[in-house]
Amino acid sequence: MRTQLIAGNWKMNLDRAASFELATAIASRDSISGVDVVLCPPFVYLEAVRDAIRGSAVRMGAQDVYSEPNGAFTGEISTSMLLDTGCEWVILGHSERRHILGEDDRSINKKVHAALASGLTPILCVGELLEEREAGQTEVVVRSQLDGSLAGVNDRQIASIVIAYEPVWAIGTGKTATPGQAQEVHADLRKLLSSRYNRIVSQQVRILYGGSVKPSNAAELLTQPDIDGALVGGASLVASDFLEIVAAARTRTPASN
Ligand code: PGA
Repeated sequence: MRTQLIAGNWKMNLDRAASFELATAIASRDSISGVDVVLCPPFVYLEAVRDAIRGSAVRMGAQDVYSEPNGAFTGEISTSMLLDTGCEWVILGHSERRHILGEDDRSINKKVHAALASGLTPILCVGELLEEREAGQTEVVVRSQLDGSLAGVNDRQIASIVIAYEPVWAIGTGKTATPGQAQEVHADLRKLLSSRYNRIVSQQVRILYGGSVKPSNAAELLTQPDIDGALVGGASLVASDFLEIVAAARTRTPASN
């Protein structure tokens, strides 16, 4: 059975003190057992969060990484820097990086390979725009993003990647995909993994849902058979909300897998 994973994507929010406080509040709860919990603060607050979660079951990730190991890449951060800071995870291909910062599947694919080679676990994001959904293009778009971002990733490596389906129209908008809409895409992504790799691997890979996940809708989303957790933005900035989502992940019925 796949262990549920709840990852908090803090995006460009909070300051050092608030980051430490939020991470401390989340890490001090023993209620997180049985669920993988990962906090992804801005780069400059990674060390504050590392100190806050020390000794707890909470893990830390970054919101991005650069594909080259070192050198003249002003403003970028390498995999070894993230590892050095205590990161074990990294979000890649988030829609804000794709659509605001111009990343494409090719550059994301390089980052996926860099992360895998370093031992960081990628949380690879895919998701369609509203106009793509309305034009009936959802499957084509997310399949092509997944295919492009996974180029050259073998069946041993894919088992250690987490995928996040985040419909762009649901991110930060308060609009959530219905559990049925999300499940449909998750099942389709799993089918794609099965044909790209094999059925066993496709059953091992965790596929998270992201896009306005909050305490009021988490349980319904997380009980879908192919939804293995959530990538949480806004609600991850409030400890009680985030912990309620974690609690919803814990109560998912084993039979649903
Ligand atoms: P949201 O963000 O929960 O605020 O919609 C999710 C994300 O972008 O990862």
